[in-house]
Amino acid sequence: MCGIVGFVGKKQASSILVEGLSKLEYRGYDSAGVAIIDNDHINVVKCKGRLKNLENKLSEHPLKGILGIGHTRWATHGKPSDLNAHPHNSQDGTISVVHNGIIENYVQLREWLTSKGYKFVSETDTEVIPQLIEYFYKGDIVEAVMRAISKIKGSYAVGVICSKEPGKLVAVRKDSPLIVGLGKDEYYIASDIPAVLNHTRDIYLLNDNEFVVITKDGVKLLSEDKKEIKKDVYHVTWSANAAEKGGFDHFMMKEIHEQPKAIKDTMTSRIMPGKPITLDDIKITKEQIKNIDKIYIVACGTAYHAGIVGKYVIEKLVRMPVEVDIASEFRYRNPIIDERTLMIIISQSGETADTLAALREAKAHGARVIAVTNVAGSTVSREADDVLYTWAGPEIAVASTKAYTTQLITMYMIALFFAQNRNTLSQEEIEAIKNDMLTLPEKAKQMLEQKEVLQKFASRIYMHKEMFFLGRGIDYAVAMEGSLKVKEVSYIHSEAYAGGELKHGTIALIEDGTVVIALATQTSLYQKMISNIREVTTRGARVLGFTVEGNIDMEKAVDSVLYVPKVNDILLPVLTVIPLQLLAYYIAVQKGCDVDKPRNLAKSVTVE
Ligand code: F6R
Repeated sequence: MCGIVGFVGKKQASSILVEGLSKLEYRGYDSAGVAIIDNDHINVVKCKGRLKNLENKLSEHPLKGILGIGHTRWATHGKPSDLNAHPHNSQDGTISVVHNGIIENYVQLREWLTSKGYKFVSETDTEVIPQLIEYFYKGDIVEAVMRAISKIKGSYAVGVICSKEPGKLVAVRKDSPLIVGLGKDEYYIASDIPAVLNHTRDIYLLNDNEFVVITKDGVKLLSEDKKEIKKDVYHVTWSANAAEKGGFDHFMMKEIHEQPKAIKDTMTSRIMPGKPITLDDIKITKEQIKNIDKIYIVACGTAYHAGIVGKYVIEKLVRMPVEVDIASEFRYRNPIIDERTLMIIISQSGETADTLAALREAKAHGARVIAVTNVAGSTVSREADDVLYTWAGPEIAVASTKAYTTQLITMYMIALFFAQNRNTLSQEEIEAIKNDMLTLPEKAKQMLEQKEVLQKFASRIYMHKEMFFLGRGIDYAVAMEGSLKVKEVSYIHSEAYAGGELKHGTIALIEDGTVVIALATQTSLYQKMISNIREVTTRGARVLGFTVEGNIDMEKAVDSVLYVPKVNDILLPVLTVIPLQLLAYYIAVQKGCDVDKPRNLAKSVTVE
């Protein structure tokens, strides 16, 4: 996820672009840059780090010009660096591009362009775009952009300027957001509305495969077959603050809704039907995978809960022993580690102090470390032997939601990759799981449609002082995450228990009206869970049950049921957790809690 902006008008572009980017920093902030046309020449200033660094650089090297593009980056392909920052220029410097999205076929395009004599200076997927446009340029920039885009597979919002046609800005989108701002004698493009709200409230919302050509005289919208499109102007009535949250009241809700896309992005170019799983970013060899005799998964909080799901899945699919540990415990317990140990570190931020210390401890004892992180260039990503990025985009709300679901996806990908390399599953079995994984984005959308039931349930229970979450097997791992979400955002004391463990003590706490969330999604454990649910309902508990579609007898055992679409049992956590996140959110809102910034918590825990 990145942010792009563009400006055409009579004012100086530089400060307008930077101001627009400042409203998009929530989309990424590891590097930033602008390209502006001055006297038929494109000048670029870009650098690694926060937007402040770009502002400092621009004050040393001011850019003149009234037409330009800008970008704030969230690295996916290539670490955060000055060279990888956007805009990217074509080889002859006449074309400059900003891009948000992922070019799936960039490796092939890069090879093809290299064979035509093009040289690349960055590690990004984006750089193929200006090069392709230059290759197709025959005096008409719109035509060249269209031809280049027709060769690209993936998701993109792209802004293009060309020094040979200095009065034009061309843009296009597919599967990445892009809007056009309509000011008075000035026009904008942006990834999101807040970037233009200080200048205009009139915008065009572009659809996939729509092109826009902007000059000082106005805006022309074109379809991919060059037909002019007429579009209604959308007048923004929200406040700038609400717009940044995409119309949602809180970042947490926005991020819950971003999960279908985050799940899809994390699988992009890694899980494809009929093709082997390709974990592009990891270099571990088949031989090394075969030599591993033990895996530790180490993390904190929500990432630790993703690790527990990882243990179930890796043990089931790869038949290898996996231990999961809380990082702050792992580092002090003198764990048994040697060269045959693999450590998987999970960290959204990639900066958590305890997780980092555990990584260093493992490396000092000769283990190989794979990091699963959401932040390119983070300390964890730099110190691990291999990195597998979750492509969730920046997570702003303190309570982790989309990072968790993408961490789960990554656990499945690692398990399948190892199963593929250790031959513990047949190709047919791997293919069946992959095909089910590819249905998850759509099914995640269905989970988001169940808001009303959850909102109602939340309004009935938000005054309670405590809650219990029950589950068995992989559901127990999800129960832990659901329980943590409730604790952190709504401050209700909540405990997660393995269904079969309750009667060994905790059941003493169940009394008339106790709230219990019971997860019974796993086929082999379903009847056992129903018995555990009866144990609490007979003692007066009010139960919200979760099970898969078709298990209608659940309705007799609980107060309300929420159904999850059918998919391979091991993948169900990705779907089941979504209503649990929503439930925690609605309880917190009812209680008037500060949802995005819960008390006593910080987004990145960089102290021990
Ligand atoms: C809970 C939450 C925390 C983090 C934990 C680890 O919603 O966000 O429990 O999961 O602090 O953080 P990372 O993943 O950045 O290492």
